[in-house]
Amino acid sequence: MEKKLIILLITITVTFLTKSQVDPDINLNITQVVRRHGYPCTNHKVITEDGYIIQMQHIPHGPNNPLREGEQRPAVYLQHGVVDSSFTWFMCQPYESLGYILADAGFDVWAGNVRGNIYGMEHVHLSPDSDAFWNFSFQEMMIYDFPANTEYILNQTKLSQISYVGHSQGGGMLLGGLSLLPEMQDKFSSIVLLAPASYEEHQSSILLEVLATLDTAEFLEMFGYQDFLPQTWWLKLIADTICAAWPSICENVLFLITGTDPGNLNQTRMPVIINHTPAGTSTKNMMHWSQLVFTNRWQMFDYGKQGNIEMYGVDPPPEFPAERITHPISFYFGGKDSLVTQANWEMLFAKLSPDVDHEVTVIDKYEHMDMLWALDAYKILNPNVVADLKKNQKTN
Ligand SMILES: *[C@@H]1O[C@H](CO)[C@@H](O)[C@H](O)[C@H]1NC(C)=O
Ligand SMILES: *[C@@H]1O[C@H](CO)[C@@H](O)[C@H](O)[C@H]1NC(C)=O
Ligand SMILES: *[C@@H]1O[C@H](CO)[C@@H](O)[C@H](O)[C@H]1NC(C)=O
Ligand SMILES: *[C@@H]1O[C@H](CO)[C@@H](O)[C@H](O)[C@H]1NC(C)=O
Repeated sequence: MEKKLIILLITITVTFLTKSQVDPDINLNITQVVRRHGYPCTNHKVITEDGYIIQMQHIPHGPNNPLREGEQRPAVYLQHGVVDSSFTWFMCQPYESLGYILADAGFDVWAGNVRGNIYGMEHVHLSPDSDAFWNFSFQEMMIYDFPANTEYILNQTKLSQISYVGHSQGGGMLLGGLSLLPEMQDKFSSIVLLAPASYEEHQSSILLEVLATLDTAEFLEMFGYQDFLPQTWWLKLIADTICAAWPSICENVLFLITGTDPGNLNQTRMPVIINHTPAGTSTKNMMHWSQLVFTNRWQMFDYGKQGNIEMYGVDPPPEFPAERITHPISFYFGGKDSLVTQANWEMLFAKLSPDVDHEVTVIDKYEHMDMLWALDAYKILNPNVVADLKKNQKTN
């Protein structure tokens, strides 16, 4: 199977190599791409309480609005979704992508990552070659990565509050993080969640659907304990050579991984998208997401009856206590999202405290990744996000 794939790829590569025009952003990392577009961008290393070293990028202003001496702008923490990275906020052109738009709109932009993606591959003493390094799911991202990134920005900016924009798992990280650590709510001014992922029973992503049928042993046999679908040489090869000339091939790879029909995306940009996505996570994280497909609960990692009793003192595992969230949130959902469906977000709302006024906007034609990459997001979504953040911005 692998041999056939290699032969097929080489044939296609040779055929298209001369025809393809390579996008300059294709092999550049986030700092290089952001700077190439004229924005300042520095790289920071955040250390979590349990020792993961995760990179964060800082974009203090746009090309046309430099900082005045001693000026502190309101800060915004951007948190990407599952198998994604901070690059996602800078995926398209500067007028289209939220990371650039917020810098242009006068925000101090901080784009965080999580353990186990391409910008989260270090630990103070564990090697990424060890099983212990990969022993995490989104639960640890909520408990460790989310507070570490937040505290880092607060400390760097000396602000009392920052705002938050999360997509998909990055939305779930905030919801779970605030549920488990409700004292963190005071650290945020505005919170905007784009297709936040929590309950997963009513989803129809092909990949999750298949993964959910595997038991733990089968899962580990197929994917190993460590990293799940890291950026592989063959995905890079597809991105560099084939996508430029034949975007429909890329559509299929993306479709399987993120559950996206890229009808709203820029086909010409596809090589850049596919070269930066998927950005990697642990097999255990994908197992945790798949577990939620067969339970109508938004719950902690399921270790089996015996393991749950040892770990949590109860079986099934506890749900994340979303009723503890008292901070108002602006929610945006896509009507065609196969991962975060209406049935799933209604489950979440049934759990949230009815005393808090959350704002909910549904964009009917949007799928999961359209929230970030759709060609018209700069017209129909991003201006609303900027307005939400400006309502409560803090500069002290
Ligand atoms: C991007 O690549 C440059 C050049 O190799 C390197 O100096 C920089 O640290 C990289 N940035 C990140 C975020 O890895
Ligand atoms: C992962 O963590 C759990 C809980 O702390 C522990 O029981 C298990 O042995 C760990 N597995 C690995 C491979 O480190
Ligand atoms: C806070 O920032 C200062 C520099 O501004 C740094 O020396 C210190 O280590 C930081 N503390 C934490 C907890 O990150
Ligand atoms: C689509 O992507 C190409 C390649 O990066 C870029 O040159 C073009 O400006 C993009 N078009 C739009 C409308 O974003």
